[in-house]
Order: sequence, then C-alpha cells, then structure tokens
Amino acid sequence: MPIRKPVLNPPFNIIRVSHVEFGVRDFAAARAFYVDCLGLLVSGQTGDALYLRGVEERNHHSIVLRKDTGSQAHALGFKLASEEDLDRAGFWFARAGLPTSFPEVPYQGRTLRTQDTLGMPLEFYFRMDSSERMLQKYAAHRGARIQRIDHVNCFTPDVQASHDFYRDLGFRTTEYTETEDPQPRLWAVWMHRKGNVHDIAFTNGRGPRLHHIGVWTAGPLDILHLCDVMATSGYLSNMERGPGRHGISNAFFLYVRDPDGHRVELFTSDYLTVDPDLEPIGWSLRDPQRQTLWGQPAPKSWFEEGSPFAGVALREPALEAQPIVAR
Ligand SMILES: [Fe+2]
Repeated sequence: MPIRKPVLNPPFNIIRVSHVEFGVRDFAAARAFYVDCLGLLVSGQTGDALYLRGVEERNHHSIVLRKDTGSQAHALGFKLASEEDLDRAGFWFARAGLPTSFPEVPYQGRTLRTQDTLGMPLEFYFRMDSSERMLQKYAAHRGARIQRIDHVNCFTPDVQASHDFYRDLGFRTTEYTETEDPQPRLWAVWMHRKGNVHDIAFTNGRGPRLHHIGVWTAGPLDILHLCDVMATSGYLSNMERGPGRHGISNAFFLYVRDPDGHRVELFTSDYLTVDPDLEPIGWSLRDPQRQTLWGQPAPKSWFEEGSPFAGVALREPALEAQPIVAR
C-alpha cells in the first residue's frame, strides 16, 4: 500500500502551514499584483522585503516578497504548538542528519531553519508578531478579499518519499492520485495538519520546486469577481487555469501567475478532515474529473512550470506516468 497509516502522536506538533517567501525582481510590479489586484494587506516593508497577509490573519505575514534577481522561492514556513515543540523539532531534524540553524528572522520568535530529505527549505517557529484585526474592516477589503493562507503544493521527484517523510511528521493524507499499473504507484498526495484537505501537497515532477501557494477566499463569488478584475485591469494573461471546481478536494479554484511567474491558487470550499479515522480518497491519474470536476484538463504549463527553491538542486522524477493535459 503506497499510503501509510497516519502518525497520530508525532514527534512535535505542527499546527499548520504558515507562510511562504518568494523572490521578486520588481517590488512595484509585485505590490500592484498582490495588493492592488489580489487584495492582500500590507503588514510591513523593509528595504528588501514586503510582508503581506490575508484579511482574517492575525499573524504578521503569510507571504513575504523578497527583492532578488530571480523568481525563486526561499522557504516554506510552519507554525508549531509551543516553544517546546520547536526544541523537539530541532532535535528531530538534527538526529535525522539534516542541517539545522536558528537564525534571527524579522517579526518571528525563535525560528528553526532546516530542510526535508529532498532538500526543500523549511522554517518552523511558534511565535510571530501579531497584526491589527482587519476581518471586520470591510471597507479595506479588495480584490478577492483573500482571507488567509491555506496550503502549499510542491513538485517532488519522489512522491512516495515525500509522503513518507511528512507522514512521519504527523501530516495525514486526505486524497491521493495513483497510476493504473498492476502495482499502483503514488503520483500525487494531499496531506494536512490543520483539519481541511491539505497544508501541503506533492505532485510528481522535476523537483523539489514550489508549484503554488493556495490562499483561501470566503466563497466562489470572490474568485469570480477577481476574474472580472484581472480581465479588465491588464492581468488577463496572468490567469493560467480556471475558474473551476477540482475533483480532488472539491475546492473552487483559480490559478494565477504573479509578474515573476510564481503561481497563486485562489481556493475555497473544501471540507473538514479532523476525524482521525478518515479514510483517504484515491483517484486514478487518467480520471478526467480528478483535476477538474467539470472535465477540463489543466494546461501544459501547469504540469511543467514552478518556482525553484534558492540553491536547491533539481532531480528528474523517477515516475514517468503522465496525466491528461490540455492541448
Ligand atoms: Fe492547491
């Protein structure tokens, strides 16, 4: 069986995915896209970084845009339940032979920097500065009125290895895609800590790379409104896929690309997954309703393009199986 049983008492307690850091070449263009168009709030700006959050987020930031020369991702951040969990995490990664450090990180308390077995850069912390509560300041909500970060989705050259690693950290599988071989192999997997379909997903492909960050909207109408905004404000070509409804996760979605090519998914309406005995849902790679419930396949770019992690070597996937791709 490619999906392993969940670890219900993990070595340290991860609450949820928390933030992503993207490299951007042009601050003004990035700010216009993320703030003026998508509707994220600005929490702060330093000489080389812009800190953003959704309207319900009390944490200081969920997206950091860092000025650099390329369109790469720098780190995936996860919030832990306590400082003691942070100590346990540091011990666990060191014992696994993975590099660990505790650098100073603006707006965050003690922060562990490390990586997974495939080289993806990870950040764990307990405390972050809090920001003004903006949820009911409706006059300040713009664009898709993005509420919060929901998940990250990554290309991995070895879906089984990524699944096994994050399963050991307590991530529970909700849905998965497998090949139609006599001995099916994992092609993609959706795993959560916080109680909906996923905090992190892995897709077979050249990696590790960040495929996209998923941000939550209050409903599908926010996403449809964003389509109208983007189509009439110079961002038509930034709309890559959708709007639509996924088969996997049941979520309503739209995928957009920022001015540096980073992919953002507007995402809403998945379901509750807190029951510890929840059985994962399996999908066949060739099922056309897997990607989109209404049947439309994703474009080629969606399967091939992603944000590399700074300084992390890429590997070709071991698995060559292909999904259905739009012409
Ligand atoms: Fe997603």
